[in-house]
Amino acid sequence: MKRISSLHQYCHQYQKSIDDPESFWEQIAEDFNWHQKWNRVLDWDFQTPQIKWFENAKLNITDNALDKHVEKHPDKVAIIWEPNHPDESVIKLSYRELHDETCRFANGLETLGITKGDRVIIYMPMVVQAAIAMLACARIGAIHSVVFAGFSAHSLADRIDNCQAKLVITSDGNFRGEKTIEVKKLVDQALASTKSVQHVVVFKRTGQPISMKTSRDIWWEDLVSNISTKHQPTIMDAEDPLFILYTSGSTGKPKGVVHTTAGYMVYTAYTFINVFQYQQNDIYWCSADVGWITGHSYIVYGPLLAGATTLMFEGVPTFPHPGRFWEIIDKHHVNQFYTAPTAIRALQAYGSDLPKKYSLESLKVIGSVGEPINKEAWHWYHKHIGRGRCPIVDTWWQTETGGMMISPIAGVTPNKPTFASLPLPGVQPVLVDKTGKILEGMNVKGNLCIQFPWPSILRTTWGDHQRCKETYFSMYPGMYFTGDEAKRDHDGYLRILGRVDDVINVSGHRLGTAEIENAINAHKNVTESAVVGFPHQIKGEGIYAYVVLGDDSSMDHDTIIDEIIQEVRLFIGPIAKPDKVLLVPDLPKTRSGKIMRRILRKVASQDIQQLGDISTLLNPDVVQEIIEKAGLAS
Ligand code: PRX
Repeated sequence: MKRISSLHQYCHQYQKSIDDPESFWEQIAEDFNWHQKWNRVLDWDFQTPQIKWFENAKLNITDNALDKHVEKHPDKVAIIWEPNHPDESVIKLSYRELHDETCRFANGLETLGITKGDRVIIYMPMVVQAAIAMLACARIGAIHSVVFAGFSAHSLADRIDNCQAKLVITSDGNFRGEKTIEVKKLVDQALASTKSVQHVVVFKRTGQPISMKTSRDIWWEDLVSNISTKHQPTIMDAEDPLFILYTSGSTGKPKGVVHTTAGYMVYTAYTFINVFQYQQNDIYWCSADVGWITGHSYIVYGPLLAGATTLMFEGVPTFPHPGRFWEIIDKHHVNQFYTAPTAIRALQAYGSDLPKKYSLESLKVIGSVGEPINKEAWHWYHKHIGRGRCPIVDTWWQTETGGMMISPIAGVTPNKPTFASLPLPGVQPVLVDKTGKILEGMNVKGNLCIQFPWPSILRTTWGDHQRCKETYFSMYPGMYFTGDEAKRDHDGYLRILGRVDDVINVSGHRLGTAEIENAINAHKNVTESAVVGFPHQIKGEGIYAYVVLGDDSSMDHDTIIDEIIQEVRLFIGPIAKPDKVLLVPDLPKTRSGKIMRRILRKVASQDIQQLGDISTLLNPDVVQEIIEKAGLAS
């Protein structure tokens, strides 16, 4: 694929992608293997919404991610796996080996009766088998849904139920720093309350004792023993679903974002190659987890489609020491490194002398994703990790967008700290005011929408198309609404300011306040709660929960707070644990009974100078009481 290598070329390509999107993407799609070509490049309307890219084309994505490269460079390393503990052996899988392992597992899945269209949950640690499981599903046309292994049994059960999964692929346990997590036990708990799952495949990672249910559970090794390394990929339609990935929104339970095959393939490969300026012998490392969209698009699919060498790291940045990330970069001569601002801030806290102990000279490009990167972190990352010479690609995108949308192209787009900068080719962002009027010109701030489809836009939310329409396409008819606010500066550069809905971003993890409130409200003594985000030095945003107890609660308050926190861990997972629980007599409400979150956000941020007009509240006195409880009264 021809890469954009100058600003002039970017401008030219961008214009072309706007003037004639169909021929722009058609030309890029020519680089892939197709069983049958499309008869129409794009058919869309944002009202229904209904979006089809490469209509009637037939393909299998793994043919492009594996077989194509096995033909050209079978011995090139596809995946480098760095274990949780550095004393354990590194695994390197060539394209041939990855192809063979994927085929074996695909054959194994078929012996379990899994076929095209079936849903398969992958609930695994960061082991190579997680990628193999995803690819094997794609090979046979099963729809994978990876659930981050940090989510609780309850969250897992919700997802299994929502997509009526037939199979769960998991591991006995999971190493994470010093901890060992009982993954299989959580699966057993989840399956106790769901009915659709027929089999569980268990990969042995930790060797800890687990229970295996006869006729339901099977070891990975047993499934693939004496099985062929050849597998004819299932022919998929361009618009057949590739995967479902659950993500949080402002209301209700997490929704299953659906991505389809061809558009996702073309877009993730194109953006990977261009944004990182990946060259054939480079070693690329994205430190995300495969349980998130970043792991799907830029650990597994994008890099493998590009024939790249992608590194997977099982552990955490601070184990066994806080120099681990930098050690891994030197050990494997990583050329492109992609991480989240929360990790940068956490490592920055150990001081600048630490990265000085490492060479880091292999690095050419460093990236950021998941949340707005603050100025201090940007400069620290640039100076101490990029050594002042590596461009930073601050990539803005979402689970729903499938791939990067607004981002510098490394070495091509001039960097401006904290700005995601310019849209990638094919992306048509607009800023709108509250009435939906497009804000033209420079130096404006507004809600970020996209007014034209790109190939990897979500197609629906699993089992509930109406929800997809209402969430993304109804607020500003004719446009996809991102939920983010952004500003455009005098150079036309875009800076993402953050969410404008009830979604909070904790350490780059997206959580809905309603989800956390539901978990808190499940506690027997809780009458009502309201959760808001507040600025947090390391996590970006922290979780602040205001909780109203029932009259009958005579229990010790500290015990109740501990129990509430425990309840959230059990319902969602440790990532959703509130940083602060404040017991309050009531919540500030409008006369129509709506909680005034604006005021709660101000108190949580300790910014109570300008609370605005509170006289119209149903219960204005409660504001002062909350301020006092929060210890902010002067
Ligand atoms: O608010 C934006 C923030 O993360 C949200 C999307 O979260 P998720 O679907 O979990 O995907 C994260 C990884 C792609 C966005 O709505 N976000 C993501 N990247 C950036 C960002 N905010 C600012 N700058 C970014 N580079």
